[in-house]
Amino acid sequence: MASTVLHHLLVLTLVLLPLGARSSDGPLGHYCGPASDKVQKTQFNLTQVLDDTINRATVSGFAVNLDEPYILAQCRGDVGSSECTKCLADAEREILYLCQNKPEGRIWYDYCFLRYDDNTNFIGQMDTSFFLLFANEENATNPEEFANQTSKLMDIVMTEAGLPGSAGLGRAKFDFMPHIFIYGLGQCTEDLDTMPCSQCLKTAASLFSDNCKFRKGCQVLYSTCMARYEVYPFFFPLDSNGTDVLDHSDVKVPLP
Ligand SMILES: *[C@@H]1O[C@H](CO)[C@@H](O)[C@H](O)[C@H]1NC(C)=O
Ligand SMILES: *[C@@H]1O[C@H](CO)[C@@H](O)[C@H](O)[C@H]1NC(C)=O
Ligand SMILES: *[C@@H]1O[C@H](CO)[C@@H](O)[C@H](O)[C@H]1NC(C)=O
Ligand SMILES: *[C@@H]1O[C@H](CO)[C@@H](O)[C@H](O)[C@H]1NC(C)=O
Repeated sequence: MASTVLHHLLVLTLVLLPLGARSSDGPLGHYCGPASDKVQKTQFNLTQVLDDTINRATVSGFAVNLDEPYILAQCRGDVGSSECTKCLADAEREILYLCQNKPEGRIWYDYCFLRYDDNTNFIGQMDTSFFLLFANEENATNPEEFANQTSKLMDIVMTEAGLPGSAGLGRAKFDFMPHIFIYGLGQCTEDLDTMPCSQCLKTAASLFSDNCKFRKGCQVLYSTCMARYEVYPFFFPLDSNGTDVLDHSDVKVPLP
């Protein structure tokens, strides 16, 4: 029940934004836990602990704080260190502003994800309770075969992400038709073991067939993994034939 409510809240937040108005490096979405009456057990300075965790994350792309407040900072594994640093700095500023005085916060960007919880240790727990979904409005040409190929592509992505040493990242590219490629990426937060990572990505990819069958592109973001495919290159290293990887001008529509 709770997860359904959370999902609705999140979709509502997105629907209120004018479509296409999102700046290219702004947040994809955020969630703030409801204020609780619970007396704060521990006194801490959230800003200070976020600063510390994010400083560590900019070195390796991932860091956690394993005490109250529990914090997880993760950059997408293919993203370089300067983009990672910038993304997490933006995420910290925005989450402190958007989730002021809230015991829980999560914020999603293209290049990074930041989450804190004042009371509950969520580190290492797969979380598919709610998601953000963005779909390209357009259908692919040759849609049946496209859907089949995308599904195979995501299988490869999931296998790669589940390998020891992959740090939860999988990437793949298929030659679909002359001059048309399909690019796929999956990323788990690095606190997940390989089994829950595979499970999370599988759940994310199953939403592709449910919500974006035949669409040219689709992206699902959970709190412990994300999966995405597009007909243009959107991950690093940049495809030499790619044009403007960071262009978000294609309309991304949150589906109910
Ligand atoms: C919390 O830490 C930040 C950064 O270190 C500092 O600027 C701020 O004044 C501190 N706030 C409180 C209430 O101590
Ligand atoms: C995409 O394909 C689906 C299924 O065939 C169809 O219902 C939908 O209208 C199509 N959308 C567009 C924008 O062509
Ligand atoms: C797509 O896959 C299904 C199931 O594997 C198969 O029956 C169908 O022929 C495939 N369609 C195309 C166009 O490849
Ligand atoms: C780039 O495009 C050219 C011609 O369209 C093709 O021969 C080449 O294999 C492509 N390179 C990559 C990395 O996809």
